[in-house]
Amino acid sequence: MYVHLDLALQLLNAGEVVAFPTETVYGLGGRIDNEVALKKIFSIKARPFFDPLIVHVPSIESARSLTTSWPPVYDVLARAFWPGPLTLICDKLDSLSPLITSGLTTVGLRVPRHPLALELLTKVGVGLAAPSANRFGRTSPTSASHVEAEFNGEVAVLDGGPCEVGLESTVLRASLTNAQSNHWRIEILRPGGVSNAEIRNALSQAGLSFDIKRTESVASPGHLKAHYQPTRPVILMKNRKWSDDLLPDIQRRLQLSEALRPVRLELDADPRLAARRLYSQLRQLAEKPNALIIVERKPEQSDESWDAIWDRLERASTLQI
Ligand code: TXA
Ligand code: MG
Repeated sequence: MYVHLDLALQLLNAGEVVAFPTETVYGLGGRIDNEVALKKIFSIKARPFFDPLIVHVPSIESARSLTTSWPPVYDVLARAFWPGPLTLICDKLDSLSPLITSGLTTVGLRVPRHPLALELLTKVGVGLAAPSANRFGRTSPTSASHVEAEFNGEVAVLDGGPCEVGLESTVLRASLTNAQSNHWRIEILRPGGVSNAEIRNALSQAGLSFDIKRTESVASPGHLKAHYQPTRPVILMKNRKWSDDLLPDIQRRLQLSEALRPVRLELDADPRLAARRLYSQLRQLAEKPNALIIVERKPEQSDESWDAIWDRLERASTLQI
């Protein structure tokens, strides 16, 4: 059900949830101070309570108001990338509902870059907790019509057009390597819309001492091995090219009775465009009858700017060959 900004506001203030556009993917938002709304987010998505939600705010100041500490490294990152596709894991204020953080002592915060999201957040006046507006484990929506299809028109959607980035935000946590040092450890919990190169660049320019590493965090179930999955199986060809000869073996391994029809996912050569189009391509291919979605990983698609894309495709895939 499509709604305008005023109705979206009324619904949120009445404890309802509303899907809204961000530059990454559409979010399913509820007021952070309304437990009924927070519970609805989990039930509509069929999302387990152990998966914490990101809180969206309109400014650095409002982000800071939800944390007990704001290290200088976050100030540098927030000034460089907010509004934008970066989520910072911060020590949370006690009063924030444990429903948002799954009982963790930290909260993920981000200022999205979409003008409608910023207007909505400014008018609501409190943060909106919002996961991606899809059923748990499924492909994230990058247009309002994806949200409509995902929830059979039963969720209120604010239409802000197609998402510019198309992949979720980068989620990171920073900590000092030890209390005496001035050296920051940056852990990437989920690669996303801001690349490692961009993060390194911003921190170097600010003269900070740091290292960056990828962490598979139990605290970040967006890292579950199976996630972001379309409704049809995806075969990720990591080491060899696809050949129809593989079909009988795959058919047997996936234990599917229908005659599978291989369809190709062709990624754009530019990683930014590839990211922007990825989820809607997956959705379109999954609509083809009996589709078996094939993705080939090409050698030229392996530099860092492709990290987030391959992270999602690995989790979306049923088999890797
Ligand atoms: O781009 C995005 O981040 C989108 C838009 C709507 O903002 N949101 C999104 O939310 O992707 P969701 O719920 O699908 O993914 C949030 C990820 C999850 O992997 C979650 O585990 C992690 O962020 N996360 C949230 N709070 C965390 C925390 N306190 N510690 C570690 N990971 C956290
Ligand atoms: Mg999600």
